[in-house]
Amino acid sequence: MDAIPELREKYLQAIAAAADMDALEALRVAALGKKGEISLKMRALGQMSAEERQVAGPALNGLKAEIDAALKARRAALEDAMLEERLKAEWLDVTLPGRPRPAGTIHPVSQVMEELTAIFADMGFSVAEGPQIESDWYNFDALNIAPEHPARQEHDTFFMHRAEGDNRPPHVLRTHTSPVQIRAMQAQGAPLRVIAPGRVYRMDMDQTHTPMFHQVEGLAIDRDITMAQLKWTLEEFCRAFFEVDQVELRFRASHFPFTEPSAEVDIRCSWEGGQLKIGEGNDWMEILGSGMVHPHVLRAGGIDPDQWQGFAFGMGIDRIAMLKYGIPDLRAFFESDLRWLRHYGFAALDQPSLAAGLSR
Ligand code: DAH
Repeated sequence: MDAIPELREKYLQAIAAAADMDALEALRVAALGKKGEISLKMRALGQMSAEERQVAGPALNGLKAEIDAALKARRAALEDAMLEERLKAEWLDVTLPGRPRPAGTIHPVSQVMEELTAIFADMGFSVAEGPQIESDWYNFDALNIAPEHPARQEHDTFFMHRAEGDNRPPHVLRTHTSPVQIRAMQAQGAPLRVIAPGRVYRMDMDQTHTPMFHQVEGLAIDRDITMAQLKWTLEEFCRAFFEVDQVELRFRASHFPFTEPSAEVDIRCSWEGGQLKIGEGNDWMEILGSGMVHPHVLRAGGIDPDQWQGFAFGMGIDRIAMLKYGIPDLRAFFESDLRWLRHYGFAALDQPSLAAGLSR
């Protein structure tokens, strides 16, 4: 067996040189573990004579304490070194600029829908909805558009398929939001004040037409609604929507099967240097169709035309979005080009409200 000074020398040197926690643990086991060199020596004390034990006992105890202390000290030193490493490795420059996180934008059509909903809500209109796949009765018949009526052809309708042998008239992709008038009348009765924004479909594609586009329908029914109220409502809307103090609307006699009389509505504007100004100038721009709801339409909606009357209007949402935000090409609305969306889109927090931005 090694003498105590040699053991001491051997372990203290090895402990001081231990490179990591595993090496240190191996040394602890070799010296002080159950079968460690020093533990075995202590166990051997039992076989010694009393005199021998008196010398060897304290010496071994002293050695054990010394090695214990050396292990602790080395462990602390290793831990310090590890912490030092981590602090160096995980160092963070808090002055660096943040990484940009790409945020989506609100599509101009969605934004304009929110805007017009806020404006009409302020005038007491609630939002009504209907399906985009519509029966031909709701899309045409109920709106006083007879089967042989030219409007059916003019609308460039998309028809759905019927199963073989099913001879019912095919459903259509609604060609306008007007069928929601009928659905709202049936669901709510009179009096009634609703708008119905949504998607509509026509087989048409050029610079100013896309097969899917958006309209907003308006419908007000009461005992004595007049065209004067239609005009005021539309003027109020245009003033708030285009954020101008003065607007002038011109009603041109027109024809729609679902209104009598019918009017197309133009707004006074100017196109100076390619720049559109609403409310001033010598040009007129058509923005919507409107009229007094035809008695046949009221009846189709379950409302007695001898008791009630009302006005209706239909307006292209994409078009008024282009006018308000200076967007030149309609087709770009639906091409999902990220550069276009980032340029013309709105921040998610840019919520339209009558108090912020929409002047009245
Ligand atoms: N539905 C018509 C269209 O799509 C627009 C329209 C005109 C709607 C007159 C109306 C209205 O409610 O009264 O061309």
